[in-house]
Amino acid sequence: MVRPTGSKLKVAVLAATGLVGQRYVSMLSNHPFFRVAEVTGQSSVGKKYGLATAGTNLPMGQDAKSLTVKPTSAYSLDNVDVVFSPLPTEVAMPLEPELVRAGFNIITDASPHRMDRDVPLMVPEVNPGHLELLDRQRKVREWNGLLVATPNCTAAGLAVVLKPLHDSLRLKRVIVSTLQAVSGAGYPGVPSLDILDNVIPYVKDEEEKVETEPLKILGEVGVDRIFPAKFEIGAMVHRVATTDGHLESLYVETEERFEPERVSKILAGFRGEPQKLKLPTAPAEPILVTNLEGRPQPKLDRYAGSVPGMSVVVGRIRKGLDSKSGRLTLLSHNTIRGAAGSTILTAELMYRKGLLG
Ligand SMILES: NC(=O)c1ccc[n+]([C@@H]2O[C@H](COP(=O)([O-])OP(=O)(O)OC[C@H]3O[C@@H](n4cnc5c(N)ncnc54)[C@H](OP(=O)(O)O)[C@@H]3O)[C@@H](O)[C@H]2O)c1
Repeated sequence: MVRPTGSKLKVAVLAATGLVGQRYVSMLSNHPFFRVAEVTGQSSVGKKYGLATAGTNLPMGQDAKSLTVKPTSAYSLDNVDVVFSPLPTEVAMPLEPELVRAGFNIITDASPHRMDRDVPLMVPEVNPGHLELLDRQRKVREWNGLLVATPNCTAAGLAVVLKPLHDSLRLKRVIVSTLQAVSGAGYPGVPSLDILDNVIPYVKDEEEKVETEPLKILGEVGVDRIFPAKFEIGAMVHRVATTDGHLESLYVETEERFEPERVSKILAGFRGEPQKLKLPTAPAEPILVTNLEGRPQPKLDRYAGSVPGMSVVVGRIRKGLDSKSGRLTLLSHNTIRGAAGSTILTAELMYRKGLLG
């Protein structure tokens, strides 16, 4: 297909009425590469998108509000170049491979295919080279389209911070304790009477994802798979009564000496390919380091940076129990850096590499 110069790629957002889906539609308003052409759902099928999402107040273009929500199937996706898929897990599991076989380019926030051997699990600043796996995916699976995944919302922010730490100090072990916002559970999420005035020290399957996904993301690309990074992660997760933004408290053991001032400079200086390419959703600084007392905090810092919600904010960088260990706190917006924002950035990178459209 010959695309007219300057025309935008047509995208579909599946499960567009959910919390992540709405982030996509909001972030894609006036996007220079992409235009939302289709939105799909389940209970909201047939409604105008603006009415189906009236309960939230994210800014959205009038064009998107006027779209009619379609059923989630290949028949709704005529002629789209990219499909963003924040589907519920049990729906994504069978449907995504079916859509890729039918020729669609899917980038998914759902978990079922993240750890598949030939599916790149992308954090664009960390592992742009993992997109090389797509050649293998196309040949072996004989798919017409492609499937790329983005990580769990807690793992996404964590991977951004672990990358420069591992490159400079060689990580041996990471212990992470999380305080995760209710929006991480989708809408309507955790019942209010369970979470108000409370902390729940459990999020289903979350610890397993946080302990494995960053190792794939920081891994080495081989011919037919990713060889995971060779350090250990131990996770303890908690659901708390904040709306957006996951706070993560880290204790790291390293091969090299952990010197807080040096670590602070290393993290603040981290840049990736999206920054070099000046991609539209790339924050100028992927990691913002704060020295302010008692920061970062979800309420104050979740939208910090040049692209709101895309920077991971790090504070309280300090020594651990010996010279080769340290502690820090990070904050990452779960539906932006942890989902829609990171996925849009992945799509921008793929677009620039000629992998879409
Ligand atoms: N929330 C986060 O912070 C976050 C971060 C990273 C990844 N994720 C992942 O992203 C996905 C969506 O999460 P969310 O927070 O946006 O959930 P959500 O707010 O609960 O939204 C669920 C969405 O799924 C649609 N849906 C439900 N059943 C469906 C079916 N059978 N077929 C097609 N669509 C169906 C709903 O459509 P109707 O409204 O029309 O019924 C709605 O749009 C999940 O896989 C989640 O694990 C979430």
